[in-house]
Amino acid sequence: MAREALVIGASGMLAEVSRWLANEGWQVTIVGRNRQKLEQVRDGAMNPDSVHLLALDYGQTESLRTAMAELVASRGAVELVVAWIHQTAPDALATVLAELSRPNQPFRLYHVCGSSAWKNPPVVHVPKTCTYHRVILGFVCEGEEARWLTNREIADGVIRAIRQEAAQAIIGQVEPWEMRPTY
Ligand SMILES: NC(=O)c1ccc[n+]([C@@H]2O[C@H](COP(=O)([O-])OP(=O)(O)OC[C@H]3O[C@@H](n4cnc5c(N)ncnc54)[C@H](OP(=O)(O)O)[C@@H]3O)[C@@H](O)[C@H]2O)c1
Repeated sequence: MAREALVIGASGMLAEVSRWLANEGWQVTIVGRNRQKLEQVRDGAMNPDSVHLLALDYGQTESLRTAMAELVASRGAVELVVAWIHQTAPDALATVLAELSRPNQPFRLYHVCGSSAWKNPPVVHVPKTCTYHRVILGFVCEGEEARWLTNREIADGVIRAIRQEAAQAIIGQVEPWEMRPTY
């Protein structure tokens, strides 16, 4: 039976993660608002037939809830979720988790968080069937300077975290915290 994955915020830094999952044999549903950007992710995959588009605004809680319920009804239980969700949508993750837990099957969440999660880890109430993994996006120090991560570094780090099944992974570095870029 096909294994179902869901990538939220899939057409930016997680584009290569979505393609990698498809290449690893997953059926991957990718979420973003702009359908054209999602199509580009799918069309760049080695096996585009394994990539399914779900264009929605995760800030619209009721539409998101309906879409998640329909996803489970049409594709079956989702086993793996990778989520990069802006803080402008504080209810989105809980909404996704509530709907995905309905089939009562175990699933894994890789919650991609900004560097502030190092100092203030987000409180996420996960259903009993969900294993929570946190991936913190850090920064890179180069001599006296520091910079944010590139999309490639982020995608590679998320893929590594999924492979290693790490409870918490840090991409780049979060210390020394004072070096964190301010731009
Ligand atoms: N610590 C670090 O180094 C760090 C941390 C964060 C970001 N960054 C960098 O900054 C860049 C920009 O960051 P970003 O936050 O814009 O991430 P991004 O991953 O480039 O883009 C955000 C993703 O989420 C989707 N999205 C945004 N709002 C949405 C909504 N309301 N509903 C559904 N989908 C939504 C976007 O598609 P749509 O726009 O089509 O909806 C897109 O797929 C990143 O590409 C990364 O390189 C670095």
